[in-house]
Amino acid sequence: MQIYHDQTDINQKKYFNQANFIDYRTQPRAYKKYPHFYQRFNLDDYEELKFIKNFGKITATKTYGKEKVDLRANPSAGGLYPCEIYIQIRAVKGFISGIYHYEALENNLTLIHELSNDGVEFYFKEKVQRKFVILISNAYFRSVWKYEKRAIRYLLLDTGHQLGSIISALELTDLEYEIDFNFDKNSLNEEFSFDNYESFYTSITVKSDKTNEPKKLRSPIINISACDYQLKELFVENFYKDCQKDEYEKIPNINLLNDIQNEQLENAINNRRSIRAFINESISEEDFLFITKNIFDFANKFGIEIYFVNNNIQGISKGLYKNVSLIKQGDFKDKMTNLALNQKLSGQSSFTLIFTSKVGHNYFYCYILTGFIAHILYLRATTLNLNCSGIGAYFDDSCKDFLETKNNIFYLFAIGK
Ligand SMILES: Cc1cc2nc3c(=O)[nH]c(=O)nc-3n(C[C@H](O)[C@H](O)[C@H](O)COP(=O)(O)O)c2cc1C
Repeated sequence: MQIYHDQTDINQKKYFNQANFIDYRTQPRAYKKYPHFYQRFNLDDYEELKFIKNFGKITATKTYGKEKVDLRANPSAGGLYPCEIYIQIRAVKGFISGIYHYEALENNLTLIHELSNDGVEFYFKEKVQRKFVILISNAYFRSVWKYEKRAIRYLLLDTGHQLGSIISALELTDLEYEIDFNFDKNSLNEEFSFDNYESFYTSITVKSDKTNEPKKLRSPIINISACDYQLKELFVENFYKDCQKDEYEKIPNINLLNDIQNEQLENAINNRRSIRAFINESISEEDFLFITKNIFDFANKFGIEIYFVNNNIQGISKGLYKNVSLIKQGDFKDKMTNLALNQKLSGQSSFTLIFTSKVGHNYFYCYILTGFIAHILYLRATTLNLNCSGIGAYFDDSCKDFLETKNNIFYLFAIGK
């Protein structure tokens, strides 16, 4: 996977030579919509399914000139929203057991396949019935349109944030869930007739009391284009294909949000936003410890090494930390701004985390989990009314030099006031 990572780096030369113009009128549509004659169900009408709204509902609207832009519960690089969500539902009273497509903008589920003795569980290692199977796919052209080859990284990060949104929604219920990366994505992509323009990246499954073994989907699912127009980018398709060789463990018992009361968590889901400029004030050590609670351990367990720069946390030495150990003392505000392609967010935060991972270590899954962890940070910081932003644009080589590491740099994440 290293060649893909190396080919999508940003260095000073590329940065200064790139053409910056992008014609926003050509942006592909950022949501998929099945034809009007498909059956739709509004989530507000089904108490047991209301939690699904939090996967990606509209939580704010911004106006740029004449353009109105809907912002969702999940963040997205460039606000391009490449992820789509499908959810297989079984045994919910008054609801047809079937595979549904989630329509974020309309708050609907669209029925795309009615279940008989079949089910998507057939494509998983453990072929037993689940109450819910939630599948996240990406329509890659939405991101490639703006970011070209570097989109491979943002697709993975966006997937992780989407995963975080779904898990925060599940945390508000009593459902027992786990992240399961290990399903036969290629076969399922075929069953959904995606034709490589869209592909599955990960899933979350929710336990059922039943132990029946579902059969292969009895008919292929009709596909419609996820964008209003799309171009092939073989670099992304080949990257995805190569990544499918990796396997990863299932992740149950995620304890990163369960110290937060439901009401507070719901408020955080509704109010999470990316900050555009910090006012450059400090935060307390207590707030820092609350936001990052269990985060370093969780990341390390999956081979993600987190560094952070303390720009402005009271009571802790300013400098560069690896996990929680100080490795370089000093004021690195200007340095951090520079590393993030001169974005002030990175230097004016109270602290900016830098997610890294060892070369050759489960690239696809570690990158998704990086986005997932960052999403947890968004929510934890929001419960304290603190602000944050993901930063996907940074100088790869300069970051590595500053950290004195050979690790790949995956993501920067700024938190502050
Ligand atoms: C993977 C990723 C990378 C991002 N990179 C940047 C960045 O480099 N600079 C920035 O200002 N915002 C960045 N953002 C924030 C997005 O612009 C923001 O999520 C999007 O506009 C939607 O706004 P919201 O998060 O407030 O809902 C990034 C977000 C994600 C998920």
